[in-house]
Amino acid sequence: MSSVLRKILVTCALPYSNGPIHIGHMLEHIQADIWVRYHRMRGHEVWFISADDSHGTAIMLKSEDLGISSNQLIKNVHKEHKKDFLNFKISHDNYYSTHSLENLYLLRKIFKSLDEKGFIQEKKSSQFYDDIKKLFLPDRFIKGTCPICNSENQYGDSCENCSSTYEPIDLINPVSVISGRRPSLKNTKHLYFNLPYFSNMLKQWIHSGVLQKSVVKKTEEWFKKGLKSWGISRDAPYFGFKIPKYSNKYFYVWLDAPIGYMSAFKNLCIKNKKINFNEFWDIKSNCELYHFIGKDIIYFHTLFWPAILEASSFRKPNAIFVHGHLTMNGLKLSKSRGALITASNWIKCFDSDSLRYYYASKLSNKINDIEINLQEFVHKINSDIVNKLVNLASRNASFIDKLFNGYLSNKLEDNELYQYFINKSINIASFLENREFSLMVRESMKLADIANQYINEKKPWMIQKRNINNNNLQQICTMGINLFRIIMIFLKPILPDLAKKTEFFLISKLNWNNIKKPLLSHKINKYTPLYKRISYKQIEKLIILTEK
Ligand code: MSP
Ligand code: ZN
Repeated sequence: MSSVLRKILVTCALPYSNGPIHIGHMLEHIQADIWVRYHRMRGHEVWFISADDSHGTAIMLKSEDLGISSNQLIKNVHKEHKKDFLNFKISHDNYYSTHSLENLYLLRKIFKSLDEKGFIQEKKSSQFYDDIKKLFLPDRFIKGTCPICNSENQYGDSCENCSSTYEPIDLINPVSVISGRRPSLKNTKHLYFNLPYFSNMLKQWIHSGVLQKSVVKKTEEWFKKGLKSWGISRDAPYFGFKIPKYSNKYFYVWLDAPIGYMSAFKNLCIKNKKINFNEFWDIKSNCELYHFIGKDIIYFHTLFWPAILEASSFRKPNAIFVHGHLTMNGLKLSKSRGALITASNWIKCFDSDSLRYYYASKLSNKINDIEINLQEFVHKINSDIVNKLVNLASRNASFIDKLFNGYLSNKLEDNELYQYFINKSINIASFLENREFSLMVRESMKLADIANQYINEKKPWMIQKRNINNNNLQQICTMGINLFRIIMIFLKPILPDLAKKTEFFLISKLNWNNIKKPLLSHKINKYTPLYKRISYKQIEKLIILTEK
């Protein structure tokens, strides 16, 4: 176990301001939050940030629909998003927005640097235009038939059926999503970033251990096609930041969005003077930087973003941690599809620890999708958290309370078994470090089984009946409470609410660094139920809310 203090900056992808947080977004923030809480618990300095991605055509159109200004929309949504993350105990140090002064400042600074170094070119292009709406159409607002596999109803940038990427003009029978008409081609001028210049650097970088194997493979596919320069401007009307010296052009949202990672951190540094922005972003920084993202936005983070950072002389991330999508009945949960379980509906039906635990039990460091099954969810929470974990505390606590005035014994009944649990902390730590949360949960539940088995064999209730050896009874229950405590130290990053209640019950903080020292001759509180069984009825409530 390393005792070196690390300085770590962790980010989650920035959710768009045009819709609610759903439990698919939450998968990412929970994954990152568990990782962050674990590292904080080990004593490292960790800063965890995210923000709303507040720019782009979709947000502009949404605010038009609602009859409010884009500014008002992003303000309202920001409040909602912050509340959702708080409800799920996501421990962001700052949750900011890309529509901020810090972001404008950094965007301009980076753009100026790219421009001065000659990485920006102006080029003519012809793009799809909606003559009725009088708007150049973003890729996602054009649909048509995939030119590769002929599957209908695909977006202008990529096919969800065969995963190929292409240009909107390659689509067969393109249609504007806004007007439903065939768009026309209109000439315009745009600014392009010279991505191909960075090909060699990127090739080296993606093979330097910063990406998961499957992500390297995906990224290599884009290399095979050849990197093209990247359009970073958009025509008015647009909601975003204007490009200096161009009257009717805006920066493309995907340029200022990742810069939002820096500006959210910059804003944190303004609020907390002890943190130094340059120490984390300087090209020679010794601090660590990790981006948690979903697999749909890989190329922005493995190609454009590192190239932009390199070009503007900032440090690159130590790793990009990619996860798969949350699916329900095999379909990706998303705004454009039905039955979207929002974070706020979820929390009306269930607590947050339960979803955190369920996700942890399914998460690994691979990018495969994760299917949510609500029946399985209820079953797992009751059988793991209620029947195994919390039961371990309650069955021992009653004796300690009734017969020993709430005091634990002065020694353990089985030191060897206690040591066995301590030894497991090495495995558990490495699973947590490597984002192998499902293995970690499985290991913890194995320990809960072993602890319950121990109590089953020792049968404290029999000892009490016969009233033979009270010392022994106290030591057995003390053992049970201490094994529960170890498992709760492991699970603390996953179950912050239960951990808090446990700390109150044990009158002791759950801390990794005092795990070896059992609680002995120590007073604990009277046991009150730590976690309530959940019921299938709550699923019905969630489904009704979702379908409303
Ligand atoms: N705004 C961009 C990200 C900019 S980062 C500089 C974006 N926003 S998003 O709201 O569409 O998605 C935000 C994150 O949530 C992404 O990492 C995305 O992969 C993730 N998810 C969105 N739907 C998801 C699921 N159904 N399942 C898991 N993650 C999902 O992309
Ligand atoms: Zn296709």
